[in-house]
Amino acid sequence: MSRRLDGRGAVVTGGGSGIGRGIARALASEGAAVVVADIDVDGAEAVAAELVDGGTRAVATACDVTDRGSVETLADLAWETCGRVDLVFNNAGIVGELSPCIEIDEAAARAVLDVNLIGVWHGCAVFGRRFVEQGGPANVVNTASENSLAAPVLGRAFYTASKHAVLGLSDVLRQELPDDVVVSVLCPGVVASKMTGMDGEESPPVGLGADEVGRRAVAGAIDGEFYIVTHPPVAAYVEERAEEIAAAFERQAPRFDGDGSLDTRALIAGMTE
Ligand SMILES: NC(=O)c1ccc[n+]([C@@H]2O[C@H](COP(=O)([O-])OP(=O)(O)OC[C@H]3O[C@@H](n4cnc5c(N)ncnc54)[C@H](O)[C@@H]3O)[C@@H](O)[C@H]2O)c1
Repeated sequence: MSRRLDGRGAVVTGGGSGIGRGIARALASEGAAVVVADIDVDGAEAVAAELVDGGTRAVATACDVTDRGSVETLADLAWETCGRVDLVFNNAGIVGELSPCIEIDEAAARAVLDVNLIGVWHGCAVFGRRFVEQGGPANVVNTASENSLAAPVLGRAFYTASKHAVLGLSDVLRQELPDDVVVSVLCPGVVASKMTGMDGEESPPVGLGADEVGRRAVAGAIDGEFYIVTHPPVAAYVEERAEEIAAAFERQAPRFDGDGSLDTRALIAGMTE
């Protein structure tokens, strides 16, 4: 059977467990060489060893995505190992403390933004620049969440905000990069992992298994999807949010003839012509 990523090189951050491990396994089964990066180097090594046992070219490395230098070193290793790197999955994330928004400890809030937003941006910037230099095709896949789209988690304001931010950053990035560097956002609902206290369960009582989500992430990237979605009920949350926003416009700022001077997209297009 032909594998869709034969001869390709791929990097996964947070690859030592959960969804990242699922992505690494899916990449290997599609034929890619895989660099498994994690702040938990033991986790990364266990995943890489499993892939090597299965006949994949894989290496593990310690990487802290909050440190730009660490991500540059990861990229150096990836090019040395794979020759060419074609896909990066910026997947490392933390959930932070459970606390009402008005009580959150500031250091804890910043820590969530540092990993989930700045860490993803580091991956986008470091690999994005190298992909442009190398020439496409290439893929950047950022792990966002259903919480990026319309599912706030009570007690997790900064987690929710960080995942909205990943969507915003990715939406800009996809328009700035050349067309052959495809950007995607992975937007799962509940997945069995360390984060949700269901590590390794492939048929969890709620949510999806991490390997299943990993396969969908890799398939979505190969298919060039921007939104990689996995949990069908989220579509209803998105619809509810869109309806609430549309109703707010209808009440407070309905369209009128000649409102073009208020159209930001048209204004920007005019400035860049
Ligand atoms: N589990 C869910 O329900 C769910 C749902 C939507 C999105 N997500 C997102 O999926 C991603 C993976 O989470 P998971 O559920 O597999 O959890 P997980 O805890 O199993 O995996 C996260 C991995 O990221 C690593 N990591 C943490 N900080 C890091 C850093 N600074 N540098 C490098 N690696 C670091 C951890 O060591 C861990 O191996 C996260 O971005 C998470 O927000 C999870």
